[in-house]
Amino acid sequence: MQKLQSFFYFSPLMLNLFKKRKITIAIDGHSSCGKSTLARDLAKKLRYIYVDSGAMYRAVTLYFIWNEIDLTNEIEIGSALNNIKIQFKTKRRKNLCYLNGELVEDDIRSQEVSDMVSEVAAISQVRRVLVEQQKAFGEKKGIVMDGRDIGTVVFPNAELKIFVTANIEVRSHRRYLELKTRGKEVPFDRVKANLIKRDTIDSTRDDSPLRQADDAIVLDNSELSTKQQLQAVLKLTKMYI
Ligand code: CDP
Repeated sequence: MQKLQSFFYFSPLMLNLFKKRKITIAIDGHSSCGKSTLARDLAKKLRYIYVDSGAMYRAVTLYFIWNEIDLTNEIEIGSALNNIKIQFKTKRRKNLCYLNGELVEDDIRSQEVSDMVSEVAAISQVRRVLVEQQKAFGEKKGIVMDGRDIGTVVFPNAELKIFVTANIEVRSHRRYLELKTRGKEVPFDRVKANLIKRDTIDSTRDDSPLRQADDAIVLDNSELSTKQQLQAVLKLTKMYI
């Protein structure tokens, strides 16, 4: 009996680990509404994997720009997609995107890529390849992914779905400042026009348009700090974990 007891002894910490089941968290929403910041902060806090699906569409767009791929030519697009390998690595607490082994974190955030990414993301051929990779990332759960179709197409069974939004002035201002911090001076009006244009293309495309999943919880963070939005969503996760 003594032996049996020690064999089945679990420390309180271990019991706690067993109790914590891992879930899938899908975060969707409009352009530059703070989805990525929320998803990254959440993943860090929960010790989950974080995947920025938008970075993947941006990396494909960058490859298409660099290689002058004709967006109307299915054969060219197909062979380009076969030559693209996207990876994420965490360095100094930053989530960095690599395209075929090259660090492209800065290049994918350029205005040139922003201007073209929604056209590329509307191509079904592109979506098929990226969605398959995104689903594979989430096979073991314990993942936070942000994008446009995560709660509707990539992880329709996610336990927690958040749809983030904020008013257009706030979103434009945030992106303007973000670009400035990266040393890129883009006029405010151009930044705003790009967000409006991308929202329109993303919400009206035929394949996987941006829309709120029926079971998603809406979070308008126009008046919330990054800390406040994180706290609000952490509270929601407590219902599942
Ligand atoms: O600028 P922002 O951070 O809001 O956008 P992003 O998340 O980097 O995504 C860039 C673009 O990729 C979006 O405007 C969409 O056209 C496309 N995208 C998509 O179609 N589906 C996703 N799951 C993620 C991004």
